[in-house]
Amino acid sequence: MAISTEHKQRKNRYTSGLAQLRFEVPNAWTKEESLYLYQTKNHKVPIDQIVYEDCITGMENIPPASVDLVIADPPFGIEFSGKTGQYNRKAELVTDGYKEITENYAEFTEKWVSMLPKIMKPTASAYIVSGWTNLGDVINSVKKAGLTVVNHLIWKYQFGVFTKKKFVTSHYHILFLVKDEKKYFFNKYEFYPEDVWMIPREYKSGQEKNGTKLPEKLIERFINFSTRPGEMVFDPFMGNGTTATCAKGMFRRYYGFEINQNMKSVHESLIVSVKPGCYYRDLREMKPTVEDLVRKYPHLRKYLDLSTVENENFYRFDDVDRKNLSEECSK
Ligand SMILES: C[S@@+](CC[C@H](N)C(=O)[O-])C[C@H]1O[C@@H](n2cnc3c(N)ncnc32)[C@H](O)[C@@H]1O
Repeated sequence: MAISTEHKQRKNRYTSGLAQLRFEVPNAWTKEESLYLYQTKNHKVPIDQIVYEDCITGMENIPPASVDLVIADPPFGIEFSGKTGQYNRKAELVTDGYKEITENYAEFTEKWVSMLPKIMKPTASAYIVSGWTNLGDVINSVKKAGLTVVNHLIWKYQFGVFTKKKFVTSHYHILFLVKDEKKYFFNKYEFYPEDVWMIPREYKSGQEKNGTKLPEKLIERFINFSTRPGEMVFDPFMGNGTTATCAKGMFRRYYGFEINQNMKSVHESLIVSVKPGCYYRDLREMKPTVEDLVRKYPHLRKYLDLSTVENENFYRFDDVDRKNLSEECSK
């Protein structure tokens, strides 16, 4: 749809919604372009592998500057068997062997975080998920490692554990980190990406997992903002393999570790069920439609060349589409 440029001459006059109407996604790839990048990009680490060992020893063998994105959701460091029934889960569907941290949490965190700068490319980013109780240790380790905190995100989920004499925790902290402030890749595909993300926890009935799965929508945002198709996503604590399935479904490559050998069979069945690129959407389709914007800001109508409206197809990637995609993926 053509958007009139006439208004450009009227300087210093703010029109709500207009910048959003004119917003273009800086980097976007069609499905065919992404498939090509996925199939042709070379990597220094073996593609699409989960290694069942301690990430602290495993990371020593990763070549320097070999990953484009790190997604790390470390164990909590509190007594957590992974079998807690607090999220309405059946214990028999939760896999045994979740590995908690028995050593000093600060020391453990410092060990694995200190290895990130070596394995990250200069353009790479890292997202570390942490509860508020461990946040101090994570921030100290990040500073010691020399990584730069670009944003401190809050992931707000729909409910927490009932409390009697304190507030209910219903958020996580996510540090968005980079190795090189000048070189990191950031694809700002939303006009106004805020640092508080409201994303519900997911429960898929009847699926075996350990008790700490991150929502796919969260991982997909990390991937979309911070990688190009075909790039390498590294996760030192694979857990249920959410990073791996999302990466594969979005035409990205993955590599990572999981210390709990029992997760191997869970990973194998889950990852095989995801077809490469089956979650993939061109980022341009994820913008709000012109119709949505005009509904929200009716005065924008005068900036549109309405003669083209009927001929255009505008998409919106919302939760309904996502549900269809997941179904498509598991066919
Ligand atoms: C919070 S969970 C990760 C959940 C994951 N993000 C997901 O969506 O399923 C942390 C995982 O790290 C694993 N783990 C603990 N210590 C580890 C270590 N030193 N190396 C590799 N994995 C480890 C645990 O067994 C657990 O599966």
